[in-house]
Amino acid sequence: MSVIGGPSLPQERKLVTSIPGPKSQEMLARKNSAVAAGVGVALPVSIVAAGGGVLVDVDGNSLIDLGSGIAVTGVGNASPAVVAAVTEQVQQFTHTCFTVTPYEGYIAVAEKLNELTPGDHEKRTALFNSGAEAVENAVKIARHYTKKTGVVVFDHSYHGRTNLTMGMTAKNMPYKDGFGPFAPEVYRVPTSYPYRDGLSGPDAAAITIDQIEKQLGATNLAAIIIEPIQGEGGFIAPAEGFLPAIQAWATANDVVFILDEVQTGFARTGNTFAADFEGVVPDLVTTAKGIAGGLPLSAVTGRAAIMDSAHSGGLGGTYAGSPIACAAALATIETYEKENLAERATEIGKVITDFFTDLQKTDDRIGDIRGRGAMMAIEFVESGSKDPAAALTGAIAKQAGAEGVVVLTCGTYGNVVRFLPPLTISDELLREGLQVVADALAAN
Ligand SMILES: Cc1ncc(COP(=O)(O)O)c(C=O)c1O
Repeated sequence: MSVIGGPSLPQERKLVTSIPGPKSQEMLARKNSAVAAGVGVALPVSIVAAGGGVLVDVDGNSLIDLGSGIAVTGVGNASPAVVAAVTEQVQQFTHTCFTVTPYEGYIAVAEKLNELTPGDHEKRTALFNSGAEAVENAVKIARHYTKKTGVVVFDHSYHGRTNLTMGMTAKNMPYKDGFGPFAPEVYRVPTSYPYRDGLSGPDAAAITIDQIEKQLGATNLAAIIIEPIQGEGGFIAPAEGFLPAIQAWATANDVVFILDEVQTGFARTGNTFAADFEGVVPDLVTTAKGIAGGLPLSAVTGRAAIMDSAHSGGLGGTYAGSPIACAAALATIETYEKENLAERATEIGKVITDFFTDLQKTDDRIGDIRGRGAMMAIEFVESGSKDPAAALTGAIAKQAGAEGVVVLTCGTYGNVVRFLPPLTISDELLREGLQVVADALAAN
């Protein structure tokens, strides 16, 4: 079938077969005999086109996209500006390796990130391919700068699937089970989880800092790394005051404070970065996902003195900062700014919050509605308690998928449905998608 993707796609939910349809099922059979079983899929529909707020599959079904490929296509899939920039770049050159013979696109992305990331101090940027790679490099840089080795991470954290980042990630299944041993010198401490700990930000931070001091002490600690809103862990936004207190302790103790904005970054939360809400200024920030409209790119940006401490040749990678991904990133960032997509994210957040706040009045299994902007989640619990309702959550996601709405789940207890729609989705389509989720809740 030929379907032209991008914003020209009809913005509708339309099912012409059951999900997955016959052609998707054929594709799944091929996948199962060709692709490693560890590479699982959430919804086995085979996509041929996407744009605006829809994904179109090989059977001709048009599904509502409430996941953005895990917070990536903020500017929409096949965004015209990204397509044009990538097309132009591939016609010029596809690769040189920046650390062999450099090019302007990489430098322009670094300049843009230095300008946009929190803080007006002098900054430097290094580009990589994936979020995990950015996190690994932020840790490398912090260790090199401080000449210390310890790294503090948090309960419910997620930082990736490489060896170091698996060790930094909290949840065992499916990310870590059987894949050890993990890298040493990673220490896990409590976070702020207002729905479950009931603590103020400063009180939660006092417990965290006490643990850091007891477990390893500042003299052994290179870096503290935290997601400003925890992504895979359940969209846990710390109570107000938690992040500033941890940052203040890090600064007072010569510990590099790293924010992992891989999932929260680039307009997703209603600000360019989630750190902006509390005016938190990290020493280093990691970014990826929403940075390049779907092309693989990530970055570490931070204080010039820290970033420049690593020797020449110590940072890089064959494809790191590919010219094609850099062209896409420049077009993507311009699109966020031109289309004021941060404001759109705030509007999307309000639609989702209002919708579920209404529903919560009659269904107490909606335990918590949280997040910021277009990064919202519902924590589902058993009626009359706060016991995590993982089976219900799985059933909702499954039914929504079967009805043509792609939603993702997350959370340490597997009881969170998260909403990460493209910022190009219409209110109408968004509301229709939320209603399908509500119907799935009512039916389970
Ligand atoms: C906060 C955070 N850090 C790091 C990563 C890892 O990114 P990647 O999957 O691109 O390696 C993710 C991915 O979900 C993430 O959410």
